[in-house]
Amino acid sequence: MAEVQLRRHLALVGLMGSGKTTVGRKLAARLERPFIDADEALAVTTGRTVRQWFDDSGEVAFRAREVDVLAQLLASDDPSVIATGGGIVCTEAGRALLNGPDVTVVWLRASPAFVANRVAQKANKDHRPLLDADPRVVLDRHAAERNHLYAEVADLVVDVDPVHRDVEKPKKKLAEMVFEAFSQIDAEKAARNRAQLARATADAPATAPGSQP
Ligand code: S3P
Repeated sequence: MAEVQLRRHLALVGLMGSGKTTVGRKLAARLERPFIDADEALAVTTGRTVRQWFDDSGEVAFRAREVDVLAQLLASDDPSVIATGGGIVCTEAGRALLNGPDVTVVWLRASPAFVANRVAQKANKDHRPLLDADPRVVLDRHAAERNHLYAEVADLVVDVDPVHRDVEKPKKKLAEMVFEAFSQIDAEKAARNRAQLARATADAPATAPGSQP
């Protein structure tokens, strides 16, 4: 019988500095779920920081490992909130996971100008080697190359810039906005998964107790 997960993970995607980790933590608390930062999970699982991966094995190897880690996280039956690395959409395998049945994807859409300003105030040493170059140039390029890919995997898009401009506690507000919308989307998707499970059960050949399969 087809394996169909009824409760799904929530994954946040978006450019570096869009707030995936901070908003994700708040969201996880609100949903009473575990929070997992995928970059941290990768560092713990492999014993190497993101920078070490880039320095020692190169970006292509890092991207493959990043996909493996996301696959492991999504395979868990315990629904979680996952902050993905900004480049997870760069590989077809990463996008396939995010388009799969086990996850609802939220894109925190932010302008490169906004995130460049934010990342400039942060220590990016161990997990953002790509920002050794001029962050604004890098993030302009990432937005141009990736925004259509984030859009491709997203079930929900939340614009980050206006919330930061207009609201006193923007992270809290963003988490609240995602919580409201996610609850709705998740209920609809869970209903679809249940229907799929019911169809798979009906299609499965009946086996009487004690009979040969
Ligand atoms: C990357 C984003 C980083 C990290 C790595 C590469 C990217 O994660 O995975 O440095 O290519 O955008 P955050 O988005 O959490 O900073």
